[in-house]
Amino acid sequence: MVNNKVKPDWAGDDKLSRFVNLLIQTKPIYSVMKIQARKVLIKTAEKNGIPWRETRKAYEASGIDQTLTEVANPSITYPDYYQVPFHAYDEGNLCWPAAFEAESATHSMALRVWPDEVLTWQAAQDRLRSSFHEVLAQHGPSSVHDILDIGCSVGISTRAIHDYYAQKQGGSVRTVGLDLSPHMLAVAKVKDEGGRISQWIHAKAEDTGLTDSSFELVTMQFVIHELPRHITEAIFKEAYRLLRPGGCLAMVDNNPQSPVIQNLPPVLFTLMKSTEPWSDDYYTFDVEAALIRSGFEPVVTIASDPRHRTLVGRKL
Ligand SMILES: C[S@@+](CC[C@H](N)C(=O)[O-])C[C@H]1O[C@@H](n2cnc3c(N)ncnc32)[C@H](O)[C@@H]1O
Repeated sequence: MVNNKVKPDWAGDDKLSRFVNLLIQTKPIYSVMKIQARKVLIKTAEKNGIPWRETRKAYEASGIDQTLTEVANPSITYPDYYQVPFHAYDEGNLCWPAAFEAESATHSMALRVWPDEVLTWQAAQDRLRSSFHEVLAQHGPSSVHDILDIGCSVGISTRAIHDYYAQKQGGSVRTVGLDLSPHMLAVAKVKDEGGRISQWIHAKAEDTGLTDSSFELVTMQFVIHELPRHITEAIFKEAYRLLRPGGCLAMVDNNPQSPVIQNLPPVLFTLMKSTEPWSDDYYTFDVEAALIRSGFEPVVTIASDPRHRTLVGRKL
C-alpha cells in the first residue's frame, strides 16, 4: 500500500498532536514521564552493552572543565530557542550531563533504527553513518577537501564523515566541527585523541563568522529537528555562503514520511515530543522548499534508513 501521509498525526496541528502537547504541558504528568523515560533509556542502553553510567562517571572524574575553557567562545550570546529544555535536561545542550551522556544516547538512537536485528551498538552506529555516506557517494560533491559538520555535538558524526572521505580519497581532507554547546565541544575535543579533526568551533550555525566559499561539503546530521524553521532556513543561507560552487549541503534526520515514525506507539511519540521542543515545527516544515529559497538546487531526498531521510542540495 502506498503511504501518502507527509507527516505523523502526532505532530503539527492535528487533534492528536494538540492532545499530546496538552499532556506534555501538564507539569506533574511530564515530571513523572521524564523520570520513567530516563530510567528505561539507561536500562535499555546498558542491557545492550552501552556503558551509560560508567561513561558519565568517567567524564565527571576527568577534569574536562579546562577543555571547555579552551573551546568556548566568550563572545557568544545564546538565542532563546536554544535555551530551552532538550532531551529532558532542563538546561538543554548547555550542561555537562547532556554532554557526558550524548555518546551513549547517540549509540542508543542507532540501535533503535533496526530493532528486529541482532546488532551490537558499534555495528548499528556504523550502519547509521554508512547509510548517510552512501547517499553522499552517489549524490554528493565529486571531490571533497574541506568539510564542515554543523551541530557536531560530541563529534561522532564529525569523525565518521572525516574518516569516510579520508579513506575514500587517501587522506587530504580537512574537517571542522561546529556547535553552539561548549560542553559538547569539550567532549568532542577530548574524544578526538588522534587530533584528526582540524578545529572544533563554538559558534551559532546561522552566523559562523567563517570565510565565504571555503567548503565543498557542509553536513547537518540529526540537527534540524532541534531547530525552529526560521533558524533552519537561516542556516541554509549561511551554508550556501560557505560552500564553493559545486559544493553540497547534506542533511540526515527523522523522516516525517517514515511509516515507523508515523506509527510510533503513543508512549514513544509522547516522550519524543516532550524532549524535542521544536518537533511540531520540524515535522510540518517543507525542507526542500527552504533549500530552494536559500539558493540550492535540490538534488535528492532519500529514505536512507527505516527512520531517517537524507537530503542533499547543491550550490551551482
Ligand atoms: C542531536 S545533536 C547532533 C548530533 C550529531 N551531529 C550526530 O550526528 O551524532 C544536535 C546538535 O546541534 C547543536 N545545535 C543546535 N542548534 C545549533 C545552532 N544554532 N548552531 C550550532 N549548533 C547547534 C546542538 O548543540 C547539538 O549538539
